[in-house]
Amino acid sequence: MGQPQQTDRPEADKPPLRVGMVGYAFMGTAHSQGWRTVGRVFDLPRRPVLAALCGRDATAVRAAADRHGWASAETDWRALIARDDIDLVDICTPGDSHAEIALAALAAGKHVLCEKPLANTVAEAEAMARAAEAAYERGQVAMVGFNYRRVPATALARRMVAEGRLGALRHVRVTYLQDWLVDPQFPLTWRLRKEIAGSGSLGDLGAHIVDLAQHLAGEDLAGVSALTETFVRERPLPVGATSGLSAVSAVGTGQVTVDDAALFTGRFASGALASFEATRYATGRKNALRIELNGEHGSLAFDLERLNELYYHDGGEPGARAGFRRILVTEPDHPYLDAWWPPGHGLGYEHTFVHQARDLVHAVAEGSRPEPSFADGLQVQRVLAAVEESAEKNSVYTPVAA
Ligand SMILES: NC(=O)c1ccc[n+]([C@@H]2O[C@H](COP(=O)([O-])OP(=O)(O)OC[C@H]3O[C@@H](n4cnc5c(N)ncnc54)[C@H](O)[C@@H]3O)[C@@H](O)[C@H]2O)c1
Repeated sequence: MGQPQQTDRPEADKPPLRVGMVGYAFMGTAHSQGWRTVGRVFDLPRRPVLAALCGRDATAVRAAADRHGWASAETDWRALIARDDIDLVDICTPGDSHAEIALAALAAGKHVLCEKPLANTVAEAEAMARAAEAAYERGQVAMVGFNYRRVPATALARRMVAEGRLGALRHVRVTYLQDWLVDPQFPLTWRLRKEIAGSGSLGDLGAHIVDLAQHLAGEDLAGVSALTETFVRERPLPVGATSGLSAVSAVGTGQVTVDDAALFTGRFASGALASFEATRYATGRKNALRIELNGEHGSLAFDLERLNELYYHDGGEPGARAGFRRILVTEPDHPYLDAWWPPGHGLGYEHTFVHQARDLVHAVAEGSRPEPSFADGLQVQRVLAAVEESAEKNSVYTPVAA
């Protein structure tokens, strides 16, 4: 991560970056927190303004706007995009609306932040990546919300891999385990419906770990071999509003049309091997994203449930003293941490969204290509498609489309 452009200007003198956000439940709340906080922690070249929040229910969106600090409310994302006092559209809706909103926002001259997975299909993601590239030529930026790149410990891991501390990579081992679907009576929310979510654990959790693995490795997966399963095929229908991972069930049932778990192995272009596990049925595991990289000179290991720590084994140390050691990633020269608390005063999940907003504001102000870009989101989408294709063909090794 490069050093931020320091401005030392009073906040009021900085040009505003007026954000309009669509969706205000789980991710909408997290992104609101990011936008509200970022300018108070980091010295930014532009001043984020929470200009408008968009939902579909006028009363509910107005209440949410007040609660989360947005100046105005809209009930149609098209009206939000049509406003000339909005510079950036932040998409926090389920995957079925990502492409339509992002394409319209880019066409209207807005910068875009879109939650992951970028889209529900490769075709949608291709159109989005094409539109983002054309928009970049016009001075607009588009970023996809793989926020786990922005945990200081994973950003440090990336830095150490790029410095060559691991040497040639041999293994990348990743799991992302949750358990909120263990109860077969949990209702059929949008995450369990293919037409809305695109896929199940694969797109929800697998997209994160594919992105993180490729980002940390510094290279793309060339092919995969996969198994997927749907353990509970019918669930009660939800009643009323559902948000994030919570819902109440009512009478009647419906079909689950996505995977409940996805396991796959992969091969990186360099020949390194990778394994992935994404499930919402790992009883007792809440948000357990774990990644380990083994290289010829050393290893790194990270666990999101202990997110201020990075474990490092230096293979060059004498055997008698060698071992994994814990790096407490809270020092000012660790990524993002010069702006936060004194060493040892750790950060949490929400800070990844502050860092995401920070990096995006810099990309907008400096006209630089944001990471992860829509092209990165498309590449992840191609991996997800290869996983689905492999799983349909009894795990046959399936190349990732170039
Ligand atoms: N980065 C992460 O760690 C992370 C975590 C959870 C979810 N996500 C992603 O964020 C997105 C949203 O997930 P969530 O958990 O916030 O879902 P959610 O159900 O909590 O919220 C979705 C919101 O979108 C709104 N919405 C849906 N369709 C809309 C439309 N056409 N117009 C306006 N508003 C609309 C809903 O009313 C709701 O406010 C998904 O793409 C998901 O994969 C990312």
